[in-house]
Amino acid sequence: MREVGPPVNPSGTAVDAASSFDAMTSYSTLEEIQQAARDLEATIDGYQTPAAFGVGIATVGPSGDVLDVAYPKVNLPEPGSNSLTASSVAKVTGHSSGTATYELTAAQLDEVISILAPAEAYTEIPHPNLDAYRALAAALPQPAHGGTRHLFAAFIGDLDDDPIDAVDGYLRLHLLSTRTVQPHGMSMNGIFGKLTNVVWTNLGPFEVEGFELTRVRLRGEGHQVDVKHVDKFPRMLDYVIPSGVRIADATRVRMGAHLAEGTVVMHEGFCNFNAGTLGTSMVEGRISAGVLVGDGTDVGGGASIQGTLSGGGKEVISLGKNCLLGANAGTGISLGDDCIIQAGTYITAGTLVAMPDGTTVKAREISGANGLLFRRNSKSGTVEALTRTDDSSWQGLNEALHDN
Ligand SMILES: CC(C)(COP(=O)(O)OP(=O)(O)OC[C@H]1O[C@@H](n2cnc3c(N)ncnc32)[C@H](O)[C@@H]1OP(=O)(O)O)[C@@H](O)C(=O)NCCC(=O)NCCS
Repeated sequence: MREVGPPVNPSGTAVDAASSFDAMTSYSTLEEIQQAARDLEATIDGYQTPAAFGVGIATVGPSGDVLDVAYPKVNLPEPGSNSLTASSVAKVTGHSSGTATYELTAAQLDEVISILAPAEAYTEIPHPNLDAYRALAAALPQPAHGGTRHLFAAFIGDLDDDPIDAVDGYLRLHLLSTRTVQPHGMSMNGIFGKLTNVVWTNLGPFEVEGFELTRVRLRGEGHQVDVKHVDKFPRMLDYVIPSGVRIADATRVRMGAHLAEGTVVMHEGFCNFNAGTLGTSMVEGRISAGVLVGDGTDVGGGASIQGTLSGGGKEVISLGKNCLLGANAGTGISLGDDCIIQAGTYITAGTLVAMPDGTTVKAREISGANGLLFRRNSKSGTVEALTRTDDSSWQGLNEALHDN
């Protein structure tokens, strides 16, 4: 969380980029755009291409806390891609390298737009950042019920750098939910401490402090106030709608979830931040923070996959491809590919498991093994792992359900 007082960029004023960079009026080839990026980069002392960056619009509450930031487009610049955008945002904010955030004035955003606009003449590629920045410029003057609107730019110098503030934290959450970075692909260390607790409503985010008076005021103004939840994280769908997914209940998917194309999250399914699916999946159970679920895997109704945020677990759990976690089953170990845990069976790291060769092991010793069926023998009570055979009733996901 951070106070929004004086702008973070040292000068606080729009840098006159045009004074040190000769922009052409239009670029007709990709090479010209890339050359313009190199020319602009050369005017910034010590410039290093960021690992990720974005420009977003924030709601800043009356106390100065950043309540949310919406980034309409986030980027991982690579040579030849988004480099003019990255360098133009760096130029106007005074950024050169490292992980940093800056408040942007409307004039600075206009300056970025004017640097990028000549690239539109090259129509072979879309220009989503330009579209996004124009949308941000239009949104900035609009009133926010829960505070005031501010523009911010965020740069991540290295994906291993920890989040530095809420503006940076929101960039990372967007990188995950837009599937730009996979879970564990960047540091999320300490993000809880950077985000503030927020009242999320149909009228946008509000500070928790004083909300009852705010509610009375809003009702007096004729608003129906629908409080959706109180949390540090918003619902993913209020910021990002990834292509090819179905989500039955928006409240069940936290911002920062990573849902691959073909994922279905049913009403009881849940997905936390820095966690999610890597391919087509049916999610009717809970994917805890940090957990990864492989392509073709079904997390059955009420099933639970242990996370590491609370309860003492340390191992980050993943499920491999084509697994079935049966209804009300659970796991505290990773599964490899083609595994089943029978409905109702909970495997914790210390569960003693009778193996096909007659030995008994602690489940943690076979974490990540492929092709096992776990069940609790209903005669003996022993938890056993059987080698999977093809005649099991589980033959994979129902394809018709995942053609989103
Ligand atoms: C694990 C599972 C896939 C096995 O199903 P299956 O392949 O149809 O196996 P069956 O139930 O036919 O059982 C096969 C054999 O193992 C035996 N068996 C099954 N479960 C057993 C258990 N817990 N203890 C002892 N024997 C067991 C059966 O009696 C049967 O014996 P038989 O060959 O002598 O007749 C199934 O039990 C299961 O849990 N499915 C989960 C479905 C689910 O929850 N989906 C998500 C919906 S939200």
